[in-house]
Amino acid sequence: MTFVVTESCIKCKYTDCVDVCPVDCFKEGPNFLVIDPDNCIDCAVCVPECPVDAIVPGHEVKDEFWTDLNARLAVGWPVITKKKSPLPEAEEFKAVKDKRHLLEE
Ligand code: SF4
Ligand code: F3S
Repeated sequence: MTFVVTESCIKCKYTDCVDVCPVDCFKEGPNFLVIDPDNCIDCAVCVPECPVDAIVPGHEVKDEFWTDLNARLAVGWPVITKKKSPLPEAEEFKAVKDKRHLLEE
């Protein structure tokens, strides 16, 4: 099992999660982060850091699309290890549920 970043992160990217990860397994794209499943040690410390509850344990992911997406994008996206400002549109999109179509790869 690994932890997975899901839909709520899209167009928010608060990045509170990256500061606490002991093994630097977050990867950054234009408007979404993913967790590298090959590095994640399942410590769960990142979960409560996300203001929009985007990070879930693999066995609780309701749609395997997100598990597969994290694994696929983690291969090419660069590592992010330091928190930065959220996206300018984060406040506007934090309560939006249907954001999959807005993902930029
Ligand atoms: Fe990093 Fe732990 Fe979160 Fe995995 S569960 S991404 S190792 S903080
Ligand atoms: Fe995304 Fe939440 Fe991290 S919005 S960048 S998973 S803190």
